Amino acid sequence: MRKLIMAMAMLAVLVGAVRAADELDMDLMQTIEDTNKSLSSNIALKNVKGSTDDAKELETLFAKVENHFVAKGDAPDAVDLSRKSKDLATAIVKAVGAQQFDAATDSATEISRACRSCHTFYKKS
Ligand code: HEC
Repeated sequence: MRKLIMAMAMLAVLVGAVRAADELDMDLMQTIEDTNKSLSSNIALKNVKGSTDDAKELETLFAKVENHFVAKGDAPDAVDLSRKSKDLATAIVKAVGAQQFDAATDSATEISRACRSCHTFYKKS
């Protein structure tokens, strides 16, 4: 009986771990949302330092999203969209550094479009 309980407890832990790996961390998406908003206003204000910091943060965050979908498997569009968003963030860092705020705004608009595309296909609610 004791062994059975132990086995069941271990199974519960395992199932929990698998489930956690399967779902995207909500805090991560919330951070992406906040950072993306901050980036838009920093670009609008032509704040080079703020825009650069936000865009670099988005690069890191989208790399995490990409890893999540690579690990999850069977989500090639999500992997592409994460990669594309990460590249756009890199483009923003460069554009802002060169004082090209129009180009930065265009890339920011494209990132927001990628958010919506991914949510259309992969967000359940
Ligand atoms: C590659 C796919 C992908 C991209 C790109 C993406 N998201 Fe998401 N996002 C998701 C998924 C999947 C969920 C829902 C997770 C779930 O339901 O398990 C989600 C959930 C969210 C949520 C809800 C979080 C909550 O607490 O309920 C917000 C807000 C959000 N995303 C914002 C953004 C913003 C802003 C961007 C772009 C800057 C973005 N996302 C880009 C896949 C993506």
